[in-house]
Amino acid sequence: MNSLHAMKTSHPAPPPGVHPTEYRSVLGRFATGVTVMTTVCPQGRRAGVTVSSFNTLSLDPPLVLWSLALKAPSLSVFRDAGRFAVNILAEDQAELALQFARGSDDKFLGVATTEGLGGVPLIQGAVAHIECEMERRDDGGDHELYIGRTVRTNSSDRHPLIFAKGRFGQFTTLS
Ligand SMILES: Cc1cc2nc3c(=O)[nH]c(=O)nc-3n(C[C@H](O)[C@H](O)[C@H](O)COP(=O)(O)O)c2cc1C
Repeated sequence: MNSLHAMKTSHPAPPPGVHPTEYRSVLGRFATGVTVMTTVCPQGRRAGVTVSSFNTLSLDPPLVLWSLALKAPSLSVFRDAGRFAVNILAEDQAELALQFARGSDDKFLGVATTEGLGGVPLIQGAVAHIECEMERRDDGGDHELYIGRTVRTNSSDRHPLIFAKGRFGQFTTLS
């Protein structure tokens, strides 16, 4: 067999590929906490979005990261905001998680908040608040990646809400 023939017949195996539904299902097996990211624009419009893509990035300097879908209506508010707050939800706040995951004219209806730095709303009853200044934003495929520099935190002993396999749950220790 000459080399031209070999090139024509020995096709490399195609990359395995990633089926979108299967991919979501695989990623959903990674249990996370549940946060609501909140911010306020200079004109005073508040935004809040339920987010499980939150994670720590760095301890020194203190950086956190999360991502927001490009198609999210709240994108423009977060894009232009100089700061945001991470509200880590407690185990009795699953309803709030759903409220902030639904498009609505006023997601904050009936939600008790206090004012954080720069007027950013902090949701009462959360396990912790992490107040951040926007450090950087970057492309993230069909999401936009936000990196925040933590400037103030507070926390309680409440138990966090957990999200895995598309469902909410509670945290229990093994021992
Ligand atoms: C548990 C849970 C986690 C979510 N995590 C994210 C996330 O990390 N990034 C994201 O863009 N949307 C996430 N969503 C979807 C948004 O909360 C939802 O699209 C929301 O309506 C966007 O807010 P907006 O409509 O005000 O833009 C999540 C939803 C749920 C229920």
